[in-house]
Amino acid sequence: MDTQKIDELLTKLKKLVSMKSKSIEYYKMIYIDNIKEKDVEAILLISNQSEYIQLNENNIYFYLESPIYTCLAIHDDNIMLGFIIISVIEDESEIIDLIISEKHQRQGFAQILLNNSIDIIIKKNVSHIYLEVHEDNSNAIKFYKKNNFVEISIRHNYYNYNKSAIIMNKDIIS
Ligand SMILES: CC(C)(COP(=O)(O)OP(=O)(O)OC[C@H]1O[C@@H](n2cnc3c(N)ncnc32)[C@H](O)[C@@H]1OP(=O)(O)O)[C@@H](O)C(=O)NCCC(=O)NCCS
Repeated sequence: MDTQKIDELLTKLKKLVSMKSKSIEYYKMIYIDNIKEKDVEAILLISNQSEYIQLNENNIYFYLESPIYTCLAIHDDNIMLGFIIISVIEDESEIIDLIISEKHQRQGFAQILLNNSIDIIIKKNVSHIYLEVHEDNSNAIKFYKKNNFVEISIRHNYYNYNKSAIIMNKDIIS
């Protein structure tokens, strides 16, 4: 076999291996559940991975105990992959936190959590979802834009180091 053919085969093989490692079939049993007290440690571990999420134990218990928050986690078997915390007050909802553990990102898990949350809030007659995102958080901004969130305002110098928050909105049509 000539070198060009070997190179072509190697390229195909590498592509297959990378597809397989990113494939959803790699996981054992994906499921979504309400966050419970036993999940708090996993929530803290995942949230510590992101410079954009600041959660402590007290915040989490507050969200779990207050009826205005829906707190969902996505798991594979007994491993938490990520979570979302979303509030509902009258017809408005806000995404408080959405985070997927670093090694499980870019495999559609945030999308699954967002879709499930929207299904839940639609039943509560919500018509708008808001969120606030750090101006440098380009991955999250891309994710939200892909989901038809639009920038509606900027809170200038909202964070330390003169960094601004972008406020985004999505209208929900039930
Ligand atoms: C934002 C975040 C939740 C997305 O989770 P995810 O599971 O990787 O997202 P999904 O796989 O469901 O969606 C992927 C889409 O998000 C965007 N995206 C996510 N990560 C991206 C990256 N590294 N580069 C470019 N686009 C990215 C793209 O639009 C992508 O769509 P594409 O694959 O068709 O290009 C994740 O990056 C995260 O946890 N970040 C840290 C916490 C955070 O900043 N949360 C938001 C606070 S408001």
